[in-house]
Amino acid sequence: MKIVDLLGYQVLDSRGRPTVAARITLEDGTSHSAKVPSGASTGQHEAVELRDGNLTGANSFYSGLSVTKAVLNINSKIKSAIVGLDIDLPEVDNRLIDLDDSERFESLGANATLAVSLASSLAAAHQQQKSLARYFQPTGKLLIPMPMINILSGGAHANRGMDIQDVLIVPHGATSFAEALAWAAGIREAAAKFGQSKGMITHLVADEGGLGIAFKSISTACEFVIEVIDSVGLKVDKEVSLALDIAATQFFQEYKYNLVNANQSFSGKEFVGYISNLVNEFPIVSIEDPFAEDDWESWIEFNQVAPKSLQILGDDLLTTNQSRLERSILDKAANAILIKPNQNGLVTDTLKVVNKAKEAHFRTVVSARSGETEDSWLADLAVGWGAGQIKVGSTHGSERTSKWNRLLELEQIEDCTFNGWQS
Ligand code: PGA
Ligand code: ZN
Repeated sequence: MKIVDLLGYQVLDSRGRPTVAARITLEDGTSHSAKVPSGASTGQHEAVELRDGNLTGANSFYSGLSVTKAVLNINSKIKSAIVGLDIDLPEVDNRLIDLDDSERFESLGANATLAVSLASSLAAAHQQQKSLARYFQPTGKLLIPMPMINILSGGAHANRGMDIQDVLIVPHGATSFAEALAWAAGIREAAAKFGQSKGMITHLVADEGGLGIAFKSISTACEFVIEVIDSVGLKVDKEVSLALDIAATQFFQEYKYNLVNANQSFSGKEFVGYISNLVNEFPIVSIEDPFAEDDWESWIEFNQVAPKSLQILGDDLLTTNQSRLERSILDKAANAILIKPNQNGLVTDTLKVVNKAKEAHFRTVVSARSGETEDSWLADLAVGWGAGQIKVGSTHGSERTSKWNRLLELEQIEDCTFNGWQS
């Protein structure tokens, strides 16, 4: 079935910032559109998000963040290259590479390429009369991922009221996704009430829907969440554990890890010790970006001393990039990878990264961005790719619940199993 039209346009993400949408029309008259997300604590090795800089007219209100150049790339070069093709995702992605063979889509913008790549995936799934999840895995039981849910937010997502970015929970004792999500929602609600009872400011909701409560120390934040889990009648460690996104690149300056709220500063070696103590003291099953994006030495050192069951998850370190993943496999710098399609720029290439990671026995955690949209394709990708885990933020905000709700739907309508925690 032929592609008869392609339209790029500018929309808003959950932070009210411009982002790119693309809409593909097929010869049967149906249209398939997708919007791309955007990060705040972005890694410097991510594919390039093309933004305009200051412009005049209505776009001047967007402080230079408008995306009309990326949109124009879709409506000119990309449109000419793909309209008239039979819908085929790998072929569309190859055409995008032909148009911009730079390492990180510097010319077209990865926000332009991903929008088109995603819209093509949806159109290709439609052609086969399948859901996006089933397009990637046509037969057999689908795997509904274990969610990692944000409860407390800090760092770049909450005005740095806490030094690290997320304290999350992993409801690994749940026997279904619906149960896991119910536990998470209960814990999130109880955390707000508990904080209020202690006189904390709890009405500030961070970029990913978590509570933006200020905590001076990471330990106090962990203790807070543990107390809340206990208060709702769930067993800490046995049923629900903690996960942290340290997002350490954000506070790594001049070879020092600076915890501003805690008023502490560490060398790489010292910070390996600090993180080791943290994971030994608390029921933490996953730790993301404990070290800065290019501090490979600390990653490698930590990997050697960390408990074998700990998930050591690379986000800014790996940026959903094949060569950085390969380096981390060789160097034994991590054992899990965060998968963010917009760090990569193409759906097929992102899937290649997932497959490479699985081959190396790395766990894969499909992840949303802090700037999201109401689209739910991420849930289908996580399921269709059998990723095993997903991280979308908290249980608040429609840009978060659109993904959770799609997983609830898939769990109801598909032949599937819920992923357990493989420690
Ligand atoms: P970001 O945050 O989208 O702002 O990068 C998400 C994360 O760090 O996991
Ligand atoms: Zn992260």
